[in-house]
Amino acid sequence: MSIQDEQELLSLKAAGRIVRQVLDAMKAEVRSGISTRQLDEVGARVMKENGARSAPSMVYKFPGATCISLNDEAVHGIPGDRQLEEGDLVKLDVTVEKDGYMADAAVTVPVGRVGGQAEQLMICAEQAFQKAMLVARAGFRIFEIGRAVEREVRRSGFAVIRELGGHGIGRTIHELPHVPNYDDPQARQIMKEGLVITVEPIISSGSGRVVTDKDGWTLRTGDHSLSAHFEHTLVITSGPPILLTAG
Ligand code: CO
Repeated sequence: MSIQDEQELLSLKAAGRIVRQVLDAMKAEVRSGISTRQLDEVGARVMKENGARSAPSMVYKFPGATCISLNDEAVHGIPGDRQLEEGDLVKLDVTVEKDGYMADAAVTVPVGRVGGQAEQLMICAEQAFQKAMLVARAGFRIFEIGRAVEREVRRSGFAVIRELGGHGIGRTIHELPHVPNYDDPQARQIMKEGLVITVEPIISSGSGRVVTDKDGWTLRTGDHSLSAHFEHTLVITSGPPILLTAG
């Protein structure tokens, strides 16, 4: 969506604040032995306390309040009985709806000590996001975000998962424009003040190909390499973007 007035900005900020609270509460519970379902219940509780709803379950009937993806799972992992283990790389992806407005963010969290490559991958996803922030502003084209992301990811020796990327958001989860994580010549739209999008590097330590699991939701890397994800919802301005989900 594109923000039309101050009230819309306030509503989106309220949704973004709840996303941050949910992620922080879940992150605080990440430890070996906890199941992904228990983590999801923490997220669902914080949503409920704030009068918010899980957007993926509302919009797509996703079987969980949040998406929790481990190790080679890139996105859309379904919460369940699986228990976290020391060394796991956990991606928490949270989208909420509050009073008709939606915001989306994701973070990668290590369980205890993780391997050196996992650590590098996690850092790289966030750094690629930060590089994109320098070009996520009015007057730039969408593909400049992807160019910045992919350049940083390649520099670190990793690959972006091209099938997955950012998106417009606001009144529903996935709106136009699509925000690719690579220099896609089709993403020519010039960003204007007030545009609300997610920027979300989703990267892999392997080839960057993903396959859909037999559960019909989970996307995991085809070569079982590790994946990391970092995401915020932001508003484009003539200067640095407003991060709605940063708290
Ligand atoms: Co998203």
